[in-house]
Parts: sequence; C-alpha cells; structure tokens
Amino acid sequence: MPESLTLCMPGGTGFVGRHLADRLVALGHRLRIPTRHRERHKELLVLPAVELVETDLGDEAALRELLAGCDAVIHLVGILHEERPGDFRRVHVELPQRLLQAARECGVRRFLHMSALGADPAGPSQYLRSKGEGEEAVHRLADPRLPVTSFRPAVIFGPDDHFFNHFARLLRLAPVLPLPCPQARLAPVYVGDVVEAFVQALEDRRTFGQRYELCGPRAYTLEELVRYLAQVLGLRRRIWPLSDRLSRLQARILEHLPGRPFTLDNYRSLQRPSVCQGPFPEVFGIRPTPVEAVVPYYLGRQDQRALYDRLRSQARHEY
Ligand SMILES: NC(=O)c1ccc[n+]([C@@H]2O[C@H](COP(=O)([O-])OP(=O)(O)OC[C@H]3O[C@@H](n4cnc5c(N)ncnc54)[C@H](OP(=O)(O)O)[C@@H]3O)[C@@H](O)[C@H]2O)c1
Repeated sequence: MPESLTLCMPGGTGFVGRHLADRLVALGHRLRIPTRHRERHKELLVLPAVELVETDLGDEAALRELLAGCDAVIHLVGILHEERPGDFRRVHVELPQRLLQAARECGVRRFLHMSALGADPAGPSQYLRSKGEGEEAVHRLADPRLPVTSFRPAVIFGPDDHFFNHFARLLRLAPVLPLPCPQARLAPVYVGDVVEAFVQALEDRRTFGQRYELCGPRAYTLEELVRYLAQVLGLRRRIWPLSDRLSRLQARILEHLPGRPFTLDNYRSLQRPSVCQGPFPEVFGIRPTPVEAVVPYYLGRQDQRALYDRLRSQARHEY
C-alpha cells in the first residue's frame, strides 16, 4: 500500500473515531468521514486532510460515492440502544455487510471492523447478538482481495469517553448513586491502546482475517470502578449497590427517559463478564494502560490535574 492512504471511516465522528482520526492524520493519511450531522462535528474540520461528508449510509449510491478512491475502510459505527425498532440489525448487521460489498466493488483493499467484547449471535442482549452477527457476516464475506480484521474491545476509556464521564455526571448530580449490576465484571481498555492496534493492523498482514479481543490489564467490578471514580473526583458519595431485581426495575424505568440512559438491553449485556480470555494481543507489542494511569488526568480534581501536568512537563524536560 502507498505510504499516505485515503481512509474512509464511518463512525469517525464518535469517541473512538476522533481519537483515531487525530493519530491517522498525524501519520499523514487522508480521511473521509461520513456523518448524519456535519454541523455537529465541525471541530473535525480543523484537522488537515479530513473530509467530513454529510451522507445517508442507507443509500447505496451515496455509499459508493463515499468509498470511491479509498484504500481502506475503518468501520466504527455502533449504537447502545435503538431509536427505532430494528436499529440494532440495520446498524450492526446490515450496514457492515453493505459497506463491505460496496468497498469490494469500489476496489478498496482493506477493511477494519469494530465489534465488541462478548459479541455473539447467541449472546444475552440484542446489542451483543447483533454485534456478533455483524462480525460473523463480514468475516464470511471477506476474501484475499479485501481482508478483514475485527476488534472486540471491552468498555473503552479515555478523554471524552462514554463510560467514566457518564458515571462522573451521575456522581456529581446527587449524594446517593443507586448502582445497577454492581457485580458486573469489566476490564476497561484505554482508547490510545485501541487506536494503536487499529493503526498497526491497517498494514500488518499478520492481522488479516483475525479477530482481536482488547482489554486493559485488570478486571474490576462495576462497583469498584464507580467507587474509584468518586475518589478521583474528590466526592464523598453513597454508592447503593442494587440487587438484581432492582437493577432490572431501574432499567425498565430509565429506558423511557430521554436519551435512554440505561435500558433492559444494557442490563442484559452486563450479565456477561466483559473480560478478555487472554492478554492484549502480542502482535501489537502494546502493554495495555491501566485505568489508574489515565482517568485522574482527565476527570480528576483541578489540583490532581495540575500535578499530572507538572509531572508530564518535567518528564518531557528529562528526555
Ligand atoms: N465506547 C466503548 O466503550 C466501546 C466498547 C466496545 C465497542 N465499542 C464500539 O466501538 C465503536 C465506536 O464507539 P464510540 O464509543 O466511538 O461510539 P460513539 O461515540 O457513540 O459514535 C458512534 C458513531 O456512529 C455513528 N452512528 C451512530 N448511529 C448511526 C446510524 N444509525 N447511522 C449512521 N451512523 C451512525 C455516529 O455518527 P454521526 O452521529 O456523526 O452520524 C458516530 O460517529 C462502536 O461500534 C461501538 O459499538 C465501543
């Protein structure tokens, strides 16, 4: 492949996509990022070599226009709950297949697919089942001219993440936090490590056709993570671990609120441990970053952040 690639990145306006876009642009690649709402993501245009295209990924002609001239597709689109019935199927099962087929017709030579840890056509939630079906489908459709690699990360953390920022908002809101599924097990993975794996996989032939689980170095219960976060935020809060029955009840109520902050489907996803079967894939040579090394930096109290800034700038001077 040429050194500077043209990459099409559906889902590139999201949390992972923005981190990945920064890194890919710094490496000299050109990005074409489709979005439903160009106005909302204008900050991406500040990056040189980023083309933000308002388009409807449901439209076959628009899909081909988007992919024409691209060397690779990095497919990141994903949802945690449906706005309309059938969204999980449309977004996680049909879209990746349509993208892959259109990519092949447009002569694209590489396809990176974002799945999720626990994705499984027989999984406990619609989210995990649809992610599993989508992943199976793209690997079935792949061929040597368009090799696919899938990534199955645990919950991802880093600046602007959805996970720690969500709980930080709840902790700031009230003195008591009723916590659903407190014993759910998770091994959060740092967004910088996920980005690095994608970047390396782009051109490393050893990764062609592979599926990689990506986790951080340690597993926690959800309750441990939220207690740790309260400490980082410097907040004295009562965390109320809900029983299974109350967790389900909470999901039934919250899924009717605007934005659907917690749904029965999310509850069902949490029934399966989000923990990898082995260490971070050796092929990437990455030592995964612990939660404790990063979260205080972007969510800690001002004084902690200032300390981190000082330490970082000292470290820069020492090298
Ligand atoms: N974040 C995590 O902890 C985590 C963990 C495991 C796996 N993943 C997977 O990683 C991927 C990226 O996650 P993220 O956290 O970066 O997601 P995100 O911040 O929610 O971004 C989702 C992206 O998907 C696009 N999108 C959403 N619904 C769409 C639809 N119906 N049609 C077209 N585009 C749509 C959005 O684009 P526009 O709004 O601009 O159109 C946005 O760019 C997802 O596949 C997710 O399932 C994430």
